[in-house]
Amino acid sequence: MHTVQLGKSSLISSRLAYGCARIAGTWNPSEVDAAKTATGVRAVAAAYEAGYTLFDNADIYCLGACETTFGKALQEVSGMRERICIATKCGIRMADDPKGSPYHYDSSADHIVRSCELSLKRMGVETIDLYQLHRPDLLMHPPEVAGAFEKLKQQGKVREFGVSNFSPSLLTALQKHCPMSLIVNQLEIHLGRLGSFHDGTLDQCMAEGIIPLAWSPLGGGYLGDGGKVDRKNPRHRGLVALQELMDKIAGAASVSRTVLALSWLLKHPSRIIPIVGSTNPERIRSATTAETVDLSREDWYRLLVAGRMEPIP
Ligand SMILES: NC(=O)c1ccc[n+]([C@@H]2O[C@H](COP(=O)([O-])OP(=O)(O)OC[C@H]3O[C@@H](n4cnc5c(N)ncnc54)[C@H](OP(=O)(O)O)[C@@H]3O)[C@@H](O)[C@H]2O)c1
Repeated sequence: MHTVQLGKSSLISSRLAYGCARIAGTWNPSEVDAAKTATGVRAVAAAYEAGYTLFDNADIYCLGACETTFGKALQEVSGMRERICIATKCGIRMADDPKGSPYHYDSSADHIVRSCELSLKRMGVETIDLYQLHRPDLLMHPPEVAGAFEKLKQQGKVREFGVSNFSPSLLTALQKHCPMSLIVNQLEIHLGRLGSFHDGTLDQCMAEGIIPLAWSPLGGGYLGDGGKVDRKNPRHRGLVALQELMDKIAGAASVSRTVLALSWLLKHPSRIIPIVGSTNPERIRSATTAETVDLSREDWYRLLVAGRMEPIP
C-alpha cells in the first residue's frame, strides 16, 4: 500500500488503517473466549500481512479486551511491533473506573496518564505511537491535557498525540496549549456522514497538515457489499438510492461497493485515512484495492449528491 505521513510527525501510515473495535468479537468482556480471541488475532494478522501499518484501538473497546486481543496478535506475529504504528484512545471512563460514572468523558491529567499506563499493559508494549482523546470533554482544561501529554512523551510512553470527534475550534483551543503538534483528528466520515466536509473540520486538516482518520468508513457496514437497508421503510429511500448508484458506479469500474466507498474517501485532498473495521480476512485484504481506483470528479460528485440526498448549490 502507499503511505501517508501523519501530520508533522515522523510516523508513517499505510493508506488504509485497520480498526480493532470489533476484534474481541463482542462488546461484553465476559463473553470473550479463546475462539473469539483467535478470530480477532487472525483478523489483525491478516491486516498486517495485507500491508496495513496503522492499527487503531481504544481502551473502551470491549472494556479493554480489544487491546488485550491486539497485544496477543503482537506476541504471535513475529516482527509486527517494529513495523507498525499503534494508535489507541482514552477519555471515556470505563465501567471499572475507580471514580465510577462509566461512559462520562474525562480528560483530566490523572485519567489520561492512568489510562495510558493500563493500555500499555494490556497491549504488552512500551510505547504507544499515537494517543488520541476519544471524545470532546466539555470540562477539558487544555493546559492540563498538554501537561499530561508532555509527561507521557517525556516518559517515552507515547510518541505522538491526536484527537477524535473534535470540532476545529476545540482542536485549536487544545493545540494552543500543546508544545507538540496534534497530528490527527479521527472523525466519522463516509457517504452517509458528510458533516466534516462542510463544517470546517477537513479545511482545518488541510490548513494545518492534520491527517483525518475516517472511522466507520462503511457507516458500520451498510455502505459495504452485504450492507442491508430496509427497503420497505420510506425513510430509507435515500439510502437505497445511494446504494443503487454506488453499485452502478462500482460495477462500471469492476470493483465492489466496499472498495468504491473507500476510494471515494481516498480521493479527498486532505488525505483521509479510512479505518477499515471488518474482521473478515478476505474483506480486509480486498479493501486494499481501493487505492487503485481512479474515481472521476464527475462520479465523486454524483456520489456526494446521493449521500447528501439533496443537490449541491
Ligand atoms: N473515534 C471514534 O469515535 C470511533 C467510533 C467508531 C469506530 N472507530 C474506529 O473505526 C474503526 C472502524 O469502524 P467500523 O468497524 O464501524 O467500520 P466499518 O468498516 O464502517 O464497518 C465494519 C462493519 O461492517 C461489516 N461489513 C463490512 N463489509 C461488509 C460486507 N461486505 N458485508 C457485510 N458486512 C460488512 C463488518 O462485518 P465483518 O467483520 O463481518 O466484515 C463490520 O461489522 C473501528 O475499529 C475503530 O477503530 C472510532
